[in-house]
Amino acid sequence: MSGPAKEYPARSMSERLTVLVMAAGRGTRMCSSLPKVLHPVCGKPMVEWVIEAARAAGADDVVCIVRPGDGVAEGLPGSVTIAEQRVGEGTGAAVLSAREAVGDEGEVVVLSGDVPLQSPELIADLVSAHRSQRAAATLLTTEGLDPSGYGRIVRAADGSVQQIVETKHIDGVPAEQLAIREINIGTYAFAAAELWTALDEVDTEHGEVYLTGALPVLKRRGLPVSSHLTDDIRSAMGVNDRAALMEVESIAQHQILIAHARNGVTFRAPASVVVEAGVTIGEDTTVGAATTLRGATAIGNGCTIGPATTITDSQLADDISVPHSFLVEARVEQGASLGPFAYLRPGAHVGPGAKIGTFVEVKNAEIGAGAKVPHLSYIGDADIGESANIGAGNITANYDGRHKHRTTIGTGVRTGVDTAFVAPVDIGDGAYTGAGSVITEDVPEGALGMARSKQTNIEGFADRDDRGNRKDEERD
Ligand code: UD1
Ligand code: MG
Repeated sequence: MSGPAKEYPARSMSERLTVLVMAAGRGTRMCSSLPKVLHPVCGKPMVEWVIEAARAAGADDVVCIVRPGDGVAEGLPGSVTIAEQRVGEGTGAAVLSAREAVGDEGEVVVLSGDVPLQSPELIADLVSAHRSQRAAATLLTTEGLDPSGYGRIVRAADGSVQQIVETKHIDGVPAEQLAIREINIGTYAFAAAELWTALDEVDTEHGEVYLTGALPVLKRRGLPVSSHLTDDIRSAMGVNDRAALMEVESIAQHQILIAHARNGVTFRAPASVVVEAGVTIGEDTTVGAATTLRGATAIGNGCTIGPATTITDSQLADDISVPHSFLVEARVEQGASLGPFAYLRPGAHVGPGAKIGTFVEVKNAEIGAGAKVPHLSYIGDADIGESANIGAGNITANYDGRHKHRTTIGTGVRTGVDTAFVAPVDIGDGAYTGAGSVITEDVPEGALGMARSKQTNIEGFADRDDRGNRKDEERD
């Protein structure tokens, strides 16, 4: 770390920590209609990673700078203050938009909303270095990344930070500056009052006011500008395009899997597995190849998930097996077995020990404890009682073309193969249905519901000639 040129005494060292998150960039290199900072990294928008890091680093107040109407503010926690960047382009213009929200007191930490993996420890280190050095500005730097496109740290003869040369546009940047490997991570601590007045003096370059332009202004005022070099390159990786997003995401993904593995989860083929940031998985659960676990999914202990399974926003209890299946907003209780090739849609609730088998689709339905729907069925808007056994190829006809209706199947019911339930319809406890029945009326408890035409056999049918006459019939 390079020391400050001289001590910066005349400001209060408030212990309150205000963190600004710059999230209003145009992000044009993402080639996207979605604001850059809302692009997810392992299922969580980039800017949320940064806000969480700020909180974990001890931020009392987080101010997020957004563009009016860009949709970024809407997804943020209510505890975050929003400042809108209404005028100007560039990180300097962004930070100036928070001038009123932050005020002149104490220091302000500035984070870039497109550096999602910055570590809270590093932010906290920066703050304590800044406070102990009594600097007007302290910034994080690293030499561990390919420096292309980043701001390069140009140092004075005494080793202090002289200026930051931006290399997003390299025209006119001297070769010796392009050869510098030390880059600006985009994480800073500033004396608030000095920051605002320095930014007032920064000129526009390439149509932008650069926050980094404030540093030479502070230097000219004789104020100490300090820096903190780190080899934590994860914390330094900025996302300006989707290639960088892929790199950051693969690092984040690896970290997520390692954390689960340390907590007792086995991954059979980790390189093919996707587990998003919000997912929880219990001990002794095994996750097979080509499996994706997304959103607010929570999986219990001792489960076997996958291979080739996608689970989104679902809750699975313990000891569940689910190979080759697709689940969205489903709940599955202990010991149930799903698949292979099960499709559980929103509102599917599978009771303890129940079975949803091969090529079965379940939607908005309660499947009772121990009930079985083993083959080729659609169960939608239905309640299936405990220990019921649904024959192969049963369909709940839940939609009359205008409205959805429910099918209720009681405890211990046995349905024949190819039963269609034309809802609303109620099958009493212990009842049966005959194979191939189209059930349009309630079946009382313990009864057999049959609804199909009687079979007719045409004797000697195979012996007909091409014109349909029996070969042995007498002809005129
Ligand atoms: C910036 C730094 C560069 C550093 C790099 C680290 C400047 C001028 N350059 O470059 O030194 O090496 O980050 O990743 O600061 N933003 C706004 N409003 C704007 C423009 C940007 O809020 O008008 C936000 C963006 O949403 C983003 C952050 O500021 O979160 C950084 O902006 P970006 O345009 O990505 O700057 P870089 O070119 O990456
Ligand atoms: Mg950037």
